[in-house]
Amino acid sequence: MWDVLKTQAARVAERKIIDVFDDARADDFAVQTQHMRFDYAKTNIDAATRAMLLKLAEAKGVAARRDAMFAGEQINETEGRAVLHTALRNLDGDAVMVDGQDVMPEVLATLDRMAAYADEVRASAITDVVNIGIGGSDLGPAMAVQALSPYRDGPRCHFVSNVDGAHIADVLRELDAKTTLVVVASKTFTTIETMTNARTARAWMKENGGDPSAQFCALSTSEEKTAAFDIPASRVFGFEDWVGGRYSMWGPIGLSIMLAIGPDGFRAFLRGGQDMDRHFCAADGRENMPLMLALVGIWHRQILGHASRAVLPYDQRLGQLPAYLQQLEMESNGKSVDMGGKPLPVESGPVVWGAPGTNGQHAFYQLIHQGTSVIPCEFMVACEGHEDDLKHHHDLLVANCFAQSEALLKGRDLDEARSKVADKFEGAELERQAAHRVFAGNRPSTTLIYPKLDPFTLGQIIALYEHRVFVEGVILGINSYDQWGVELGKELATALQPVIEGSAPADGKDGSTQALVDYLHKHRG
Ligand code: F6P
Repeated sequence: MWDVLKTQAARVAERKIIDVFDDARADDFAVQTQHMRFDYAKTNIDAATRAMLLKLAEAKGVAARRDAMFAGEQINETEGRAVLHTALRNLDGDAVMVDGQDVMPEVLATLDRMAAYADEVRASAITDVVNIGIGGSDLGPAMAVQALSPYRDGPRCHFVSNVDGAHIADVLRELDAKTTLVVVASKTFTTIETMTNARTARAWMKENGGDPSAQFCALSTSEEKTAAFDIPASRVFGFEDWVGGRYSMWGPIGLSIMLAIGPDGFRAFLRGGQDMDRHFCAADGRENMPLMLALVGIWHRQILGHASRAVLPYDQRLGQLPAYLQQLEMESNGKSVDMGGKPLPVESGPVVWGAPGTNGQHAFYQLIHQGTSVIPCEFMVACEGHEDDLKHHHDLLVANCFAQSEALLKGRDLDEARSKVADKFEGAELERQAAHRVFAGNRPSTTLIYPKLDPFTLGQIIALYEHRVFVEGVILGINSYDQWGVELGKELATALQPVIEGSAPADGKDGSTQALVDYLHKHRG
């Protein structure tokens, strides 16, 4: 299958994307649901290529694997776990079985407990919440709280993740310990950064007149470890190991979102995700948005070989979405072996990066338009913003978003470039100046357009991307739900700690590491 697609890529390599446009293309190469539209017309995918990509998905068993995931089978094979973050947003409570047991009563009971606790905190004197977590226990909630800031009617939420003391020091400096709630978010409750920050926050609260015994809560799968940290069970919100860290914002790890926007807003976010789940399970082939988003990704990375993709939300409040997607996609699909432990026959997932428009236009878009590598771009934009009195800003924002994908598609040839500067230069200088103003164009992009960034829509977008990662992972034959690649660095850091502290020698380390340790020790005050 891979070869067929690579042959197809070679066949269409010389063709320009603009040349495949006909009157029907815009609608043919878009997926529209009741709630949003995903346009991939500005890629070099034509009907034949799409048919091959859909065949690839079929041959790799995407639909069967999807059904297995929703049915609670242990598709996380290396860890022997089900993958059921979808159960956290299964608001109607239809049974979801794990090892012969329906997990939904417990999921819904926890959601109700979270809501009762959130109501209590929101009605109390608490003005600020500090979520201490890292990776999946930080990036999702932090991204969502920013995305949904127009809906915040609860305490201010702050996020501390880095073990760098600068992070927690800068956050706590601004807060009153007597009116701050600390949420310790850690699936395992062993992550060194989170536990170090949690202990520092507890000491700060004690020293500054707060009461850690009342103002700490925990979000974790480990009751034993939260109890050992002196957080009473009544303030522990648990979940099961079938929720992966980077997929966990839909349950207890999303508590800070609920504290910020309230239980109803949080439920609307879950509804958005649930609605996308239903679409993903029901829509056929080319009508299926996550499937098509994934196939566009496969075409660009595994078939055409583009090493990265840029996520470009023209939505300031999605400023943290690229970082969130970086973990979601790169921790899930950055693997070199398949489920059976055999090397992948194609590249793994791409580097995912980005920043909101229009800011990026004044920073890195130069390379996207004129650099030597092709970087597929994924634009996102809302039909309307929340600032009714600033509609002209939103019009400008959208104009810029659409203009960028148009520029990437069309480019500017030498003749046009020449005519742009013909009144200023002539002869050889005209040629030299014109060459700098050429845009190759023919650079692929997609656009996701949605009505407004409200809780429901955010839920849709996040679930869309989760399923995209799932589909790409199934097509690659990898396990998207483990993350062994983060372990080696953690082990070495633990071993290096006494060396850094000066209580153990750097013997046995490579020369470079030894020299760095020497330099550190010599230059410390
Ligand atoms: O080190 C990677 C990782 O395990 C992520 O997968 C996870 O989201 C993060 O660390 C935090 O883990 P925990 O929630 O257990 O503290």
